[in-house]
Amino acid sequence: MDFLKLKHMKFCKFHVNYLVSICVFLIILSLIIRTTLFFPNSSASTLFKNYEIEPSKNARLKFLEVPQIVWGLNNQKIAFARACLTARMLNRTLLMPSLSASLFYKEIDQLQPISFDKVFDFAKFNALCNGFVRVSRYSDVRNQTNLINLQKGSGRKWTIERDLDQLNEFSKRDYEEYETVRITGKNPFLWHDHWPVSDYAKVFECLVLVDEISRQANEVVSKIRAFGGETKRDGSSYPTPKPTPYVAIHMRIEKDWMIHCKKREQRSNVTNICSSKEEITTRVANIRALKALKPPTILYLAVANELLDDDSILNGWKQGMLPVDKKRLGVTAVYDKHPYLIQAAIDYEVCLRANVFVGNSYSTFSSLVVLGRSQKLINTGVTDTCGANGANVTWPSYAYNLKGEDGGPRPWMTNFKDSSLQEISYGSSNVSC
Ligand SMILES: *[C@@H]1O[C@H](CO)[C@@H](O)[C@H](O)[C@H]1NC(C)=O
Ligand SMILES: *[C@@H]1O[C@H](CO)[C@@H](O)[C@H](O)[C@H]1NC(C)=O
Ligand SMILES: *[C@@H]1O[C@H](CO)[C@@H](O)[C@H](O)[C@H]1NC(C)=O
Ligand SMILES: *[C@@H]1O[C@H](CO)[C@@H](O)[C@H](O)[C@H]1NC(C)=O
Repeated sequence: MDFLKLKHMKFCKFHVNYLVSICVFLIILSLIIRTTLFFPNSSASTLFKNYEIEPSKNARLKFLEVPQIVWGLNNQKIAFARACLTARMLNRTLLMPSLSASLFYKEIDQLQPISFDKVFDFAKFNALCNGFVRVSRYSDVRNQTNLINLQKGSGRKWTIERDLDQLNEFSKRDYEEYETVRITGKNPFLWHDHWPVSDYAKVFECLVLVDEISRQANEVVSKIRAFGGETKRDGSSYPTPKPTPYVAIHMRIEKDWMIHCKKREQRSNVTNICSSKEEITTRVANIRALKALKPPTILYLAVANELLDDDSILNGWKQGMLPVDKKRLGVTAVYDKHPYLIQAAIDYEVCLRANVFVGNSYSTFSSLVVLGRSQKLINTGVTDTCGANGANVTWPSYAYNLKGEDGGPRPWMTNFKDSSLQEISYGSSNVSC
């Protein structure tokens, strides 16, 4: 009533207009605040666009529980992906597993469990993988006792077919009444592979490092890029107009690896698994794509910690190439405060982002770096990353243990059409180029 009365008063006409203006202004302001608050930059907004982060409240989730995941960073990533894909096959969500912070794999008590979400961003994982696979927290389980054990076999008699039959059995409706299926057995996800490379790639793409670790990887990458720039008197570098390109080389030449790879060469009757430092330096010197770069070319040598005390790895590279390792970069402190797993995760990131990557096709670490890089290229619309011996590719990768043209290493890209990860990750000279 009061409002109507007011409306008829002459001077209030102005008042109403004024109120409307204020309202419109406030609505616009709130829209701006919402946009900047929730999507502070465009990459975050594209990341979460089209993804429903929370599952529908009515869906009663069922879970898959798995034992602690072990071994090297990339074996753990593969085992984690298998756990996710097993859960997908059983129409369940994976209960967030523990990874292992240390590399000991003989002594169970030294495995140092570390929660998945201490390394990878939990919310981003589910946002990016929404509709494909999903990780849940243990607090989502309603009835802890409503579970059934699925004992996985091991050893020679436990074949890939038996493993698959068992999973098919547990996918049936009979098991639907159990809220949780708990997989037991010795490292069940290290062995059997039932999925195409493209499924693994989808899971790996959702693994984003938590901010703290990601920041440290950024720090290492900027130190590498700054290394070639001019140095000021106080030791810091001048800002460079463009980020300086760098080559990352994953050099497996430490004692343990040399013993392991020689044995493998004998067993498989091949000679292209082990590469000496001399072979690596020679092949890198002959990479055609590097000849177009203005020297100095920064080489980041990703090596086992035991090699950091051996300064000779920094010698013997072609003139104009500037090799650096963690020690020479002055980043050992960044790495030293972390356990093995996180150190490896930082190195993985540094190799992933390098302009050129050179690794060993028999190494799981190198293979997954190339998978990540191939995926990055495909996402930008490139289909052939081998092209013209890698010379025309934006982020080429190479295998130094295989001989390519001109005495260089062989260009390397992941074939996403392979029917199993075995083909490309567990020791292979299959580099698709
Ligand atoms: C998978 O599980 C969801 C919810 O738990 C259910 O709605 C759906 O019917 C299941 N699908 C199959 C193929 O069992
Ligand atoms: C939990 O599950 C067990 C086994 O299925 C069942 O016996 C028990 O009644 C359930 N508890 C509740 C509170 O639903
Ligand atoms: C190993 O390979 C070489 C040539 O590739 C062949 O001549 C030799 O017979 C092979 N040895 C065995 C034991 O298979
Ligand atoms: C790659 O680049 C070279 C020159 O750098 C050119 O001759 C060649 O045609 C290019 N190849 C492709 C596939 O674009």
